[in-house]
Parts: sequence; C-alpha cells; structure tokens
Amino acid sequence: MCGIVAAVAQRNVVPILLEGLKRLEYRGYDSAGLAVSTDDKEIKSVRKAGKVNHLTEQVKEDNLIGTTGIAHTRWATHGQPTAENAHPHCSGGTIMVVHNGIIENHEVLRQKLINAGYTFSSQTDTEVIAHLIAYYQKENHPLSEVVKQAVTCLEGAYSIAVMDRLSPGKIIAARSGSPLVLGVGIEEYFIASDPLALLPVTHQFQFLEEGDLVEITTSQATIYDQQGKQVQRPVATDHFEFDSAEKGNFKHYMLKEIHEQPEAINNTLEGRITENRILPQSFGCDAEKLLKEIDTVQIVACGTSYHSAMIARYWFETFGIACQVEIASEFRYRNIVVPKRCLFVTLSQSGETADTLSALRLAKKLGYASTLTICNVHGSSLVRESAMVCMTRAGAEIGVASTKAFTTQLTALLMLATVTGRLNGTVDAKQESTIAQALHKLPGLVKSALTLKNSIQHLAADFSHKQHALFLGRGTMYPLALEGALKLKEISYIHAEAYAAGELKHGPLALIDVDMPVIVIAPKNALLEKLKSNIEEVSARGGQLYVFADRSANLTETNCMKVIHMDTVPDIITPMICSVPLQLLAYEVAVIKGTDIDQPRNLAKSVTVE
Ligand code: AGP
Repeated sequence: MCGIVAAVAQRNVVPILLEGLKRLEYRGYDSAGLAVSTDDKEIKSVRKAGKVNHLTEQVKEDNLIGTTGIAHTRWATHGQPTAENAHPHCSGGTIMVVHNGIIENHEVLRQKLINAGYTFSSQTDTEVIAHLIAYYQKENHPLSEVVKQAVTCLEGAYSIAVMDRLSPGKIIAARSGSPLVLGVGIEEYFIASDPLALLPVTHQFQFLEEGDLVEITTSQATIYDQQGKQVQRPVATDHFEFDSAEKGNFKHYMLKEIHEQPEAINNTLEGRITENRILPQSFGCDAEKLLKEIDTVQIVACGTSYHSAMIARYWFETFGIACQVEIASEFRYRNIVVPKRCLFVTLSQSGETADTLSALRLAKKLGYASTLTICNVHGSSLVRESAMVCMTRAGAEIGVASTKAFTTQLTALLMLATVTGRLNGTVDAKQESTIAQALHKLPGLVKSALTLKNSIQHLAADFSHKQHALFLGRGTMYPLALEGALKLKEISYIHAEAYAAGELKHGPLALIDVDMPVIVIAPKNALLEKLKSNIEEVSARGGQLYVFADRSANLTETNCMKVIHMDTVPDIITPMICSVPLQLLAYEVAVIKGTDIDQPRNLAKSVTVE
C-alpha cells in the first residue's frame, strides 16, 4: 500500500525523504513523488511512474533542495499508475498533499469543487483533498485549522501530510483509518507510515491515534485529538534499535527472512516458556483471568495469517477447545451469531490490514468475551485496539511474501492453544510439558530444515516452465499446502492450487497429467497411510510428484516421484518445520523465473484499504 514520508528540518530533507521512500518500498507501490519548499516560499515537486530510483534520478537532475518536504509511494486505486496520478497533488500552486487510503465520497466532493471553479488534473481521489483545503483556506487562518475543517468532509480511510507554500517550515498530518507515526528528532520532526522509514534519522516515535492531527515545525510537534484537544502520545523508543531494513549478504529480503526464522522463533518464545510450562502472561497481564473465562475461540485474518489460523484450529480442537476461523473480509459482512464465552482472535503481520481491523472493531461491538491479537508490528492499530496482545517479535518483515511472520504466528498460536487448554482443564501438565519441550527444539529443527536449500534448488528447475501446480496435504498439512500454493503463485506467478488430499477424487484428479507437478507434504503421522493412497492416485494417472516426506515414511523415488527427505520431528510442530521447504521452493522457482521477488507485481505488503 501507499507510503508517506515527511520532514521539517534545518538541513536539506530531500535525502531523508528518498531514503524513507526506499524503506517503504516493501509496502508495494507503482509510482512515487515528492515536494519540497524552502524558506523563500518556493515549492517544487517531482512525480514519476515506476520505482523510487526513477524519482531519485529526476530529483538529482532537477537539483531539488528544501528544508520542508512531503513524499509518497502510490499504489494505484483511482486512476492508472502514471506521473499525473502520482502524489503530491497540488491546488493553486500552493497546497501540496500526499495521501494513503481511499476517500469514499470523492465523486460528490469533486463535483462540488468543480462547481466552485476548481480544475482537476488527475483521476485520483486525493486531488479532492488538496482542493478542499484550498477551498477552506482564508487569510490569516492557521493551516492546521484549515486541514481540520477539510478532513471533516472526508468519508473513508486516510492518512495525509500537507504543506503550504505560504506557511513555510510547517507540515500538517492527520490520520483516520490508515497508520501514521511521528518521528522526534533534535530540532527536526518527521512523519511516516511506518517507523522503518525513519530509522536512519530517529529512534523516537509517537504513534498517532485515530482522528489525530499533528502540526510539525523545527521547534515543535503539536498533536490534537479528534475533538481538537491538544494531547500527548507516548514516546516509544524500544524495539527500534535493530534496523532490519538491510539485506546483508542475502540477494533478497525474502531469502534473508526465511533464514531468520530460527532466531525469530527463539524471540517469540523468549521469556514465555519454562522447561515444562507456557506462561499465560505471554498474552498480557490479565490473560490468565480472561482465558479462563472462555469456552470457544473465533480467529479472523487474511492471506498467510488466515492459513496460520486454519492450522491453529487443529491445535485448539486437539486440546478440547472449539475453534472457528474465518477470512476477515467475509466475517465483517456476515450476520454473526456470537457464541457465549468466545474469545475473538486476530492474526496479522502488519497489524494494519483493513479487513482484519474492521472485523476486530465489529467484534468489539458484537460483544465477544474478549479480544486478542497476535501481531508483529508494535504500536499498530490491532495491537492498540485489542484487550490482549502477543507480539511475535519476528523483526521487520520486508518481503511481500510472508515467511517468518507465518512461522512465528504459528509458534504463538501453539502456545495460546496450549495455555487456553490448560486453564480450562482440557490439557494436563504432561501434555503441556511435551509441547513445551517440542517448542524448545523448534528453532534448531527449523535451522536444520534450512539445509534443504540445495536439494530444493535442483528441484526448482522442473517448475520454472510450468503453468500450474497442485499442492496436497491432510490435517494441518492441508492449510500448509494452501500456504505453499500462495507462496508459489505470489512470487513466481505460477497458478497454484491446494487441496485436502482426500478431495482429489472429488474433482481435481481430472487435472492430473505430465504437465501438472503435484507437491505433497507427507510427515509421519496418523494420516500418512491415507496420504500414500492419494499419492498412488496421482502416479497412476501419470502425474509428476514431489513429496516432502519424513525419512521414516518409507517413500522411495520412482520415475514419476521425487522424494525430499525430512527429519522426523514432534508431530505438533510439523507445520512450522514443513513450511520451510515450501518457502524455499517458491523462492528458488521465482529466482529462475527472474521475478521481482520482494515486491511481486500488483501486491502490497500492508493492505490498509479494503
Ligand atoms: C502473504 O505472503 C501475503 N503477502 C498476504 O497474504 C498477507 O499475509 C495478508 O495480506 C495479511 O497481512 P497481515 O498478516 O499483515 O494482516
């Protein structure tokens, strides 16, 4: 999704804005732009379709310099990804606006402003905001009040940063429905969609809350809440010491993040489990009391996070707790019947996914017993709005394809299911101890799964010319198959589907031929023999099989079946271990195909609009 960076300083802010935009590239975008002004009331802007690098070249060519500036990466929603539609949008050569989100009433406002004599030069909803601010501007009226008045007309979701040629050295930013953070420097202030954008210039952040508006100059930052009352927001300094925006020796962020999983999982577990027990406080101070009061769990999420939820359902049910899972965009538009004593759980890497956030807000109105989020981003909206929180502590995930966020979410979910079972008397001390011990082994086992990289590299060549692929699994390996297929389609653009292996003969078997590679995940568990029958069904029809199998599963290679042997691991943690080869397979195929792995086409890291 779009990204905003803004700065007011006594130095040239252009390099700060460009570096900030580079750091927000991971969110997904298709054009970029910036505007800067100097004290002599001059304002200049550059907008380019395509990558930030193109913008940087143009900025150099135009020799842009300024002490106040706003910058933006745009992910097209209204109008093509062209330079004309890129932000900042301008009104009357004075007001400049960058915007994230969607203005739902933009057509009505556009007509009103056209009637008032304003001319539009883009197809965007954002240009409405620039003209609206100009419309309300009166002589000697502070910019912050004008912006406040303008945003009250907006329906939808937005975060904006505004500068005015006639108010040099000042930026106004506001948020409603889209994230925005204030970065505090020494005699300089910054605004961004994500703290990551500002790590080279500050480690002190204030997260703006819904309805907040902030005015920044070099001397101060003044925050007003929705009611226009001046407020303070807590300054967060922790958690930003480690700048994971660097790729290090890895060719792509995705590969780096796949390799960070042992450490990330270690961080998820740290201080949360003893040798034999999982601590309820891992989910918040009141978690012990709140989790005792629930009988059932409803999990809501999107994409990869939804796949974690599907896996977790098997765990909750194994531990005697009823569990429902649903895609957030469906949940929010159904007529929900809320079960008694039901815990509402959201899962999200970013904590800002629009559908998941709306589902949480709806759940709070509907009266669920309590809410809990498992999330990777400090200060995000889901974290701030949930009663209980468990941070996954995976570190910044930059690659659009989620990897370490997935396995750390699973780790936190297994802890949650176990703790909930114990507090409700359905998991005994022996079971909890077995799970705790498996969790202790998890980082090491993930590390050894990473050694499959070389054999997977060889396999990948078989896929690079294929149009389609089919993933099969049973039990928890079924949602994992869905995740494997999502990874492959996201970054290699190969059409991939996943099925519960038992469904094969109910339709998908018709697809099997030599051109359809079939990937099977076959750990040694109670369903292995049934899965072997499904493997037979495929090979009998000439399908080419790639089986990730437990060493002791007694599966041997044939002409039409390649077997990738995996270590035997405790059954309960197989989803985390088996996700590693699937991530590596998608990665290696995408490398051969030469796609944009960290920023696949049409996708955004953080989906902050519906
Ligand atoms: C995963 O590879 C995806 N890019 C996507 O499905 C993602 O998991 C989804 O958009 C949800 O994001 P969240 O975890 O930040 O809420």
